[in-house]
Amino acid sequence: MGLYQAGITGIGSCLPEKVLTNFDLEKIVDTSDEWIRTRSGIEKRRIVEDNQATSDIAIEAARRAIEDAGIQPEELDLIICATVTPDYLFPATACLLQDRLGAKNAAAFDMEAGCSGFVYGLSIATQFIRTGCYQKILVIGAETLSKIMNWKDRATCVLFGDGAGAVIVERVDTGGIVGVHLGSDGAGGVFLDMPAGGSKQPASKVSVEEDQHYIRMDGSQVFRFAVKVMGKAAEEVLKMAGWTSEDIDLMIPHQANIRIIDSAAKRLNLPSDKVFVNLPKYGNTSSASIPIALDEAFHSGKIKKGDKVILVGFGAGLTWAAAAIEWTKE
Ligand code: UT7
Repeated sequence: MGLYQAGITGIGSCLPEKVLTNFDLEKIVDTSDEWIRTRSGIEKRRIVEDNQATSDIAIEAARRAIEDAGIQPEELDLIICATVTPDYLFPATACLLQDRLGAKNAAAFDMEAGCSGFVYGLSIATQFIRTGCYQKILVIGAETLSKIMNWKDRATCVLFGDGAGAVIVERVDTGGIVGVHLGSDGAGGVFLDMPAGGSKQPASKVSVEEDQHYIRMDGSQVFRFAVKVMGKAAEEVLKMAGWTSEDIDLMIPHQANIRIIDSAAKRLNLPSDKVFVNLPKYGNTSSASIPIALDEAFHSGKIKKGDKVILVGFGAGLTWAAAAIEWTKE
């Protein structure tokens, strides 16, 4: 523990308006609503318009979080944007947001830890607040996964959606973010990646013709990994916070697959009313899934001051991340 406690003081999210249902997907690839629902738990997802980039939904989520915290953009010291679908490889999407928000006193950077990105970002913000280095930090998880989706690949295109969520992290008197646990296993990186567009395989006519600029995933390998790490990461962070699973008021897991969420809940002995799920509505929005769920949970009254909340995710890298939060926001 450092000098100060860090807590979440504002939350917001933004979901694109356009809805793509499982039945819509039946017309695009060889799949069925029944397969998607029973294998993943997803019923529909939101998709941005062609002219919308990640920053266009991230900014709405950020504005809502800033307003919710009752602060001004000029008060921000730092903006961290977790995303695997930045507007550009560079400049950072966080810098685009810094400019559009008018956050003229903020440093800004993007970070990428797959679907664990938001919790990684939250942990970075926590360290800056604990040391007293910064006072007000905006952490965003935002994705337009539809832009890197191979709409001919039924094994991936039925799973993902677009969205953005954001929080403000500030100093609090007691409680707040009382534990963070991060991990990685780079040997599993090949199971979930986007092969081209980086320095290993720069964009070329061939890379485009060979569909190398899309998400590529070995679903069953990622599934096995996720089942293994979700419960374990939650247990690690519980230990760090000095809590047991009985203390948990609400767990907010990464929304990827209902079977993965159920297995983590089972390992922790958590009844279903203590596990927040909005996966059927939005699908897997990668680094945006946890802050979107947190926003819905808080603003629908499912989290109250004093509650013990666990965030836990896994994703490309491979990575995992968990946070224990004693809720301080009224
Ligand atoms: O944020 C992290 C991102 N990734 C994940 O969370 C993914 C984790 N993995 C999963 O969620 C699951 O592995 C999937 C939902 C992707 C797949 O479920 P599964 O129970 O592991 O199915 P499977 O991959 O073993 O495929 C079963 C069958 C296959 O057919 P055969 O070989 O048994 O004849 C697939 O070809 O289902 C077929 N299949 C489909 N059928 C209809 C795969 N995708 C589809 C589809 N519609 N969309």
